[in-house]
Amino acid sequence: MAAGSQDVGEHWSSGTAFLLAAIGSAVGLGNIWRFPTLAGENGGGAFVLVYILCVALIGLPIVLSEVLIGRAGGHNADSPGSIAEVAERSGRSRKWGLFGTVGTLTAFLILSFYSLVAGWVLYYVWVSGADFLEALFSAQPFAPAFDHMTRDEVTGMMGGLFANPAMLIGQHALFMIVTLAIVAVGVTGGIEKAAKWLMPSFFVLLVLLTIYAGLTGDMGAALAFMFTPDFSKLTPAILNDALGQACFSLSVGGALLITYGSYVPSEVRLAPTAAVIASVDTGVAILAGLMIFPIVFAAGLDPAGGPGLIFQTLPIAFHQMPGGALVGLLFFTLIFFAALTSSIALLEAPTAWVMRRFGLGRKQAAASVAVPAFLIGVACALGYNLWSEVRPLFFWPIFADSDILDSLDGITGKIGLPVGGLGAALLAGWVADRAIVDAETGLSGGMLALWRFLIAWLAPLAVGLILLFGLWPSLLG
Ligand code: PFF
Repeated sequence: MAAGSQDVGEHWSSGTAFLLAAIGSAVGLGNIWRFPTLAGENGGGAFVLVYILCVALIGLPIVLSEVLIGRAGGHNADSPGSIAEVAERSGRSRKWGLFGTVGTLTAFLILSFYSLVAGWVLYYVWVSGADFLEALFSAQPFAPAFDHMTRDEVTGMMGGLFANPAMLIGQHALFMIVTLAIVAVGVTGGIEKAAKWLMPSFFVLLVLLTIYAGLTGDMGAALAFMFTPDFSKLTPAILNDALGQACFSLSVGGALLITYGSYVPSEVRLAPTAAVIASVDTGVAILAGLMIFPIVFAAGLDPAGGPGLIFQTLPIAFHQMPGGALVGLLFFTLIFFAALTSSIALLEAPTAWVMRRFGLGRKQAAASVAVPAFLIGVACALGYNLWSEVRPLFFWPIFADSDILDSLDGITGKIGLPVGGLGAALLAGWVADRAIVDAETGLSGGMLALWRFLIAWLAPLAVGLILLFGLWPSLLG
């Protein structure tokens, strides 16, 4: 172990615990909010197909490379430290750790606005909870959602929330405090326990709601929309979106898979574990589509609703359907669970780094990350009302029109995550000693050769292209 690094000695209690926590970090707002939104905006089938290819050929190999770098780093839980450790043992410069620094900083920045968006979800949990209670008390448990409101009032809820800084900041604070409380307790006591309860509850709710959507909604239209690819709709920008979404959804590039990997016991076989993480994450995104689109189509609404799809379009659908009050409450609770297990991971990665770098205890380290992340989230919240004119990156053409949250989303999604993922691919594919890497994968024969090709060639090239076209879209013509 390198001088200056110390083993905090934390481990998952079992391979299953790691799997649940890693799936928890992957499955989140990205699956239920971002994926259906992008699929809806990009015409469905062709996007879904390209997305699946991106996950299998690029995302999955990088997930494996990040987890194995974490474990090979010798329990050096912070991502820059793990990368530097692996590079040094391979006779290369510790400066490779800079990729981990970018990933850790990216996780920190994503946490700031992720918690704000999760706060919107929390707000809808309260509103739909109150609505369901009202239905119960008037002895109509299967009433449609927001029965006493007009359609315009239902759509207007989101605008009302955005215009109210105190409410936005309050929900964001609450969500951050819950995340902090869990991370402060630690790996086995906090993160594992949360994942053990939240993930299974999440899956039960998801399956129930998808069955419900199948029974009451227009599943035929949803299936046709999601699985009939119209290749004339494929553009380079869609490819780019699909690849970016695959990285975001799998949590690739944000340092946290390296951190989580460092807590993995040596007997766990990493390649099958990475395959399960990627398959479950993709399965959840597709189920989320099959839960949302039948309801949207049955209500005669537009699937290309954009970011308001789940906050405006779906509430209108719930408003029109029997049982909508209960279904709405379950739906937002489901997203809250998913967001929480991801925000825990987003906080854990920078926390592990601060613990090592500054020798702080877990609680202080977690708080010293969560407080500044909260404050940046407050700035994003004000960007919707008091500071709505602010364009922090006005000097940068592709971000010139972006408000505070969109600027952070753009910087992290278009630069931070791709750079972090590229670093992991280069490290596993080129820099690290082959013996270290190959032993960690547990792969052999043809599968090892395939993985080597994907991680050394396809992944870096593809991720390099997201960076290039993401930053200079004019290159796409
Ligand atoms: N994978 C999470 C989601 O789909 O919501 C979001 C995320 C977590 C992205 C961690 C990036 C990251 F580093």
